[in-house]
Amino acid sequence: MNILVTGATGFLGKKLSQDLLNEGHTLYLLARNEKKASDLLHSFAEKHRKQVHILLGDVSKKGLGVSENDWGQLSQKIDAMYHIAAYLSFDPAQKPQTYEVNVEGTKNTLQFAEAISSPRFIYVSTAYTIGTETEGKEALYNPERSFVNNYEETKCLAEHVVFSYSDKMEIIIVRPSIIIGDSKTGEADTTFGLYGLLKGLRVLKRRASRADGWENQKYRILVDVDVNSNLVPVDYVSSVLVAALTHGEHKEIYHATNPVPPTQQLVVDCIKEVLDFPNLVPVPFETDELLSEEEKAFNASMSLFHSYWKRSISFPNDNTKKLLQKVGQSELQMDKEMLIGIMSGFQKQTVLT
Ligand SMILES: NC(=O)c1ccc[n+]([C@@H]2O[C@H](COP(=O)([O-])OP(=O)(O)OC[C@H]3O[C@@H](n4cnc5c(N)ncnc54)[C@H](OP(=O)(O)O)[C@@H]3O)[C@@H](O)[C@H]2O)c1
Repeated sequence: MNILVTGATGFLGKKLSQDLLNEGHTLYLLARNEKKASDLLHSFAEKHRKQVHILLGDVSKKGLGVSENDWGQLSQKIDAMYHIAAYLSFDPAQKPQTYEVNVEGTKNTLQFAEAISSPRFIYVSTAYTIGTETEGKEALYNPERSFVNNYEETKCLAEHVVFSYSDKMEIIIVRPSIIIGDSKTGEADTTFGLYGLLKGLRVLKRRASRADGWENQKYRILVDVDVNSNLVPVDYVSSVLVAALTHGEHKEIYHATNPVPPTQQLVVDCIKEVLDFPNLVPVPFETDELLSEEEKAFNASMSLFHSYWKRSISFPNDNTKKLLQKVGQSELQMDKEMLIGIMSGFQKQTVLT
């Protein structure tokens, strides 16, 4: 198939592009940064490069800002589009950019899909369009709900924009939870989510370990240890997206989530092991006034995540289970060993760089 992908230079987009190339598809990758696009192209094996066409463009522009020549070449030629590009920021100060890329960018990409007559449009959303609630469903959420941040809200609004095109093309939504590295290699080219926490803890440890007797000192992190953290490996998310290409159903929503997510206790245990940080201690949020200045500063820097560390959310995945069955795959099963392997992969990469 001829497939157009937005966001291919990103964490998930790279993995998906590689998987689609392995399946023999021809790819049209929309990228806004020429250098990143060239690096991406060269990251593919030479035998695959002739299957790849780079389109320079920007989803926040009308017509995606692609040249007339590219536009003409694509008309009637694309069998499916994956819209992955997004602005991943929880920062309220970045609300305008978040809206522009995630909502307006999705509108522009759908208009483009219609103009070139793409018959299928697969949108990568997030499981956290659920907002502040705790019982998820593989169906659209009412956007008149409360959200933890603008990112969640813009992704929810974008899902509605995608559904508004359902009489013009086949539309499918895939909602990943918190994406972590590859389950086999641990590779993770991202600083988002779990990796923001890992980076922060590594800096804390480096700084703290300069002090005498640091190994007897405790470093407290505010987290509810009984709450689940819905971590999902990038290769699993990509496999759901690949299955959706051929077996996804029109107007269906698929949770690419972890059916048995680890508790935060397990996540912290794995972090302690991987970062060699045994004196890290999870403590309840109510203990925050007892923290040292250093601990307060660290925990304040993680406050954007606190809402996710205080409540378990259930994400039913019946649609995804059925979808994967059709391609002979089963839902994710992630154990402690896999989680340690993924985190270790990240630690190795960042130690090298
Ligand atoms: N990471 C997660 O934990 C997670 C969880 C749930 C859902 N998701 C969703 O999964 C998708 C991929 O996430 P990710 O982690 O791979 O993000 P990422 O690494 O930040 O990649 C984002 C991609 O979007 C591109 N992009 C951003 N603004 C653009 C614009 N104006 N025009 C064209 N391209 C633009 C980026 O291009 P540049 O390389 O030029 O910046 C990059 O290729 C997103 O839709 C996200 O909402 C992610």
